[in-house]
Order: sequence, then C-alpha cells, then structure tokens
Amino acid sequence: MEKQKSMDASFFGQPRGLSTLFFTEMWERFSYYGMRAILLFYMYYAVSQGGLGMNQATAASIMSIYGSLVYLSGVVGGWLSDRVWGARKTVFIGGVLIMFGHIALSLPFGLPALYASIVLIVAGTGLLKPNVSDMVGSLYDEGDKRRDAGFSMFVFGINLGAAVAPWAVPWAANGFGFHLFGSTMNFHAGFSLAAIGMFFGLIQYWLDGKKYLSKDSLYPNDPIDREGLKPIITWTVVGVIVLAVVLGLFGAMGQLNITNVINIITIIAIALPIIYFIMMLNSKKVTKVERSRVIAYIPLFIAAAIFWGIEESGSVVLALFAEQRTILHIGGWHFAAGNFQTLNPLFIMILTPFFVWLWSKWKRQPSAPGKFAAGMVIAGLSYMWMALPGIIHGTTAGRVSPLWLVGSWFIVEIAEMLISPIGLSVTTKLAPKAFQSQMMSMWFLADSAGQAVNAQIVKYYSSATEIPYFLIVGTVSVIFGAIMFFMVKKIHNLMGGID
Ligand code: PHE
Ligand code: ALA
Repeated sequence: MEKQKSMDASFFGQPRGLSTLFFTEMWERFSYYGMRAILLFYMYYAVSQGGLGMNQATAASIMSIYGSLVYLSGVVGGWLSDRVWGARKTVFIGGVLIMFGHIALSLPFGLPALYASIVLIVAGTGLLKPNVSDMVGSLYDEGDKRRDAGFSMFVFGINLGAAVAPWAVPWAANGFGFHLFGSTMNFHAGFSLAAIGMFFGLIQYWLDGKKYLSKDSLYPNDPIDREGLKPIITWTVVGVIVLAVVLGLFGAMGQLNITNVINIITIIAIALPIIYFIMMLNSKKVTKVERSRVIAYIPLFIAAAIFWGIEESGSVVLALFAEQRTILHIGGWHFAAGNFQTLNPLFIMILTPFFVWLWSKWKRQPSAPGKFAAGMVIAGLSYMWMALPGIIHGTTAGRVSPLWLVGSWFIVEIAEMLISPIGLSVTTKLAPKAFQSQMMSMWFLADSAGQAVNAQIVKYYSSATEIPYFLIVGTVSVIFGAIMFFMVKKIHNLMGGID
C-alpha cells in the first residue's frame, strides 16, 4: 500500500489521485469565483434590471463578510474531517452543500434564497476546501520530493477554475450573448452555471475518487471518543446559547439588522485567530523552539491578513470600479464588468513559472518575512495606482481605460506570488507538531480576518471617495510593509532555523 503510494506517477509524474483532487478543486473554485463575479451586481442592481435592489454599500459589505465566513468555517470543516468523518466524506458533503447553495441562487426567490445560499456555501466550503488541500498532502510519503510540485499543480487547478468562470458565468447572466432579456440581466442563469460546475466536480470526485484516492481518507485521523466529545458538546452548546442571547438582545433593542450582524462576525473573525495564538503559546504540548516559531508567525499572520484584505477586495472594490468607472469595450469588442475577475487567476498562472524559476536560481534570496514585507508594499502600490485615474482625469469625468484595472491586478499578483505560496509552505513548517491542522486553519483565517476588516471599510468606497480610499488603504499597507522590513532579521531569528 505505502509502496504503491510512492511509486504511482501516472498523472504527469504525480500520483493519479492528484488528478481527482485537481479537478474537484478546479470545479469548486469555478463555481465559487463564477458566483462571486456576478453576486455583487445581483445584490445592488435594481429589481427592474434583474437584481435585488439593495443599497450598494450594504452589498459591498456583504460580499466581504461572506468571503470572510467562507474561510472561517474551515476551522469546523478541518475538525470534522480529522475527528469524525474522515476527509473523503467531508469533502463530498461539502460539495453537495455548495451545489445546493448555487441552486438556491438560481431560483427566483430573492433575499431569502440569497441568505440560504450564503449559509450553504459557507458550510460547504468549510467542509470541502481545507480537506481537499489536506488530501493533496497525504498523497505523498514523508520524504517524497514531488510534494511541492504536486501542490503547485493543485494551485494551478484553483486558478484555472477561477480564470474560466468569470467569462462563463457573466456570459450566462447576460443571456448567453443573445441579450435574450433585453437590458435586464438573468442572474439566475449565471448562478445555475455555477451549480452545474460544482455538479461536474462532484461526479468526477465520486467516480474517480473511488479508484484513486487512498482508503485512509475514509477514516478520521484522530477519531474522537465519548470522553473527548463531552467538552466539545458543552462548548458548542455554550457558544450557541451565547450567540442566541447576543442576537436576542440586539433583537430586543430593535437592533438586529444586517449591519450589526456583520459587526458581530467581524469581531469573531478577528478574535478567533487571537484565541488560537494564545492557545498555542500556552499549550504544554508546544516545545520551546515551537513556541518561538509561533511567535514568529504572528507578524506573518498580520501581514497576510493585510495582503488578503487588498487582494480579496478585487471582487468588491475593483469590481465596482469596473462597473462604474471603466470603459467596457476595446474597439468593437464588448465585455462585462464581471469579466475583470479573470485577471487575478490569469496573472497567477502567467507569473507562477517565473517565480518558481526565480526562487530556484536566486542564491541569496530574502527569507519569508522579507518576501512578506515586499508583498505588503507592492499590494499597497496596486491600490495607490488606482488613485491615479481619478487624480489625472477627475472622478466625475466618466469612464477610464480598462488598462488601469489590468495594471492594478498585475501589481497585486506580484505581491500574491510573494505571499500566497510562501505563506502556505511557511505555515506548515512553523506549525507545532501538536497543532498541524490548526495551523493550516490559521492560514485560512488570515484571509478571513482581512475580509472581515474589509466588511467594515468597503462601505466607504464609491466613485466620490475613490481617491482617498485607494490612497489611505494603500498607504497603510505600504507602511506596515516598511515596518516589517526593519523586523525581518528579528522574525527570522525567531523562526528557529526555518527560512
Ligand atoms: N484565491 C485563494 C483560493 O481560492 C484564496 C485563499 C487564500 C483561500 C488562502 C484560502 C486560503 O484558494
Ligand atoms: N487568487 C485566487 C487564489 O489565490 C484565485 O487562488
């Protein structure tokens, strides 16, 4: 069995199971990013245009808090896989929930369908995404040299799905190019396509997984016993009661509205990683070296959260800029605002080979904290760049060239190259032995925390405020990056021999 694991090289030199996981995640990301490409517009377009007619600031804030929740729920998904269901089943259940989430949006049930869909997709992605990544790792024996390449291919699958969807889904939402619905959008057709994508992913995972995924994934790594279950049940009940009381109090005061719900989630998404850090630093299972590594991870976590905050605002703030401030044709070639979402994954696919080459050649390359510091500065510059069109042409002058957005995405993707793959690998290396999978959740929580902060600030973005918005947020990121440059040596020393 073990022998077979290390010898199988039938998918581009990688174990055949990688193909299963590659396509599962590709389709899942297709559905997620396809949905995100039109969701913002669905929420704030007028009812007469096929939208829900929400206020734009609220819609933007929902986009961000939704993104935050999607990666927050990974904490529960990872736990269920480790202790109860095993990865194989957890991923499948997750995929089914996601598919139903998209189906909910494909039906004409307005706001209730939107909320149902958010609940389903938050739960489903939490079950699917961390565990499908984890299964990639378990395709390889401990010393297998193909592991890193395997992960790079997996990330390529993520971005392939994410790059195709922003063409396919907005196209469906625009009446498949026929403008069947006049000037009205048919968002539900777009969301159906997302559901179909997840359906393909599930079929493929089911049929292929039976043949090519290890039997180990059918069982939890660390099955929970009755004794272990007791405190979990107690704390879950306590948590639910506290939440119910808090919501009840807000309700009693007549304050149970979307803004306050978003505020509560923001607090949770920021508090949770703090609690995790405190827990790891105080745990008796963590050795002295490991504790120092966890301390080193704190500034890296903050840097990642700031970076993801800017990166993830591409589907909110830059999407608004695309829709309201950008010329949506080049000559006779017309495109939709949602199509711009393809640029992020596209640039990742283009830049990855270059950076793989660079890291293999560059002898005295900066350490992870150095790359993170540079990443924050560059991400900040991608925002400052977006202040330029308004400064040059004025913000009331109508639409500007699409090249502004193309440039901004190009810059932020250079930063992503310095943070995303580096962060993933440094997270696993800095993890204390007793907290391996929790550290993986931490990496997701960095994105979640960034988007939780976004949920508070994106409401202030509009065409009228774009110049200060881009300048202020961009400057904050640059300043944090600059501060981190001075701490690189210190952080690196704390990492206990890891670079
Ligand atoms: N674009 C990334 C992805 O879809 C976003 C992400 C980063 C998600 C880090 C989780 C953790 O995979
Ligand atoms: N940039 C998105 C992610 O990191 C697509 O993969």
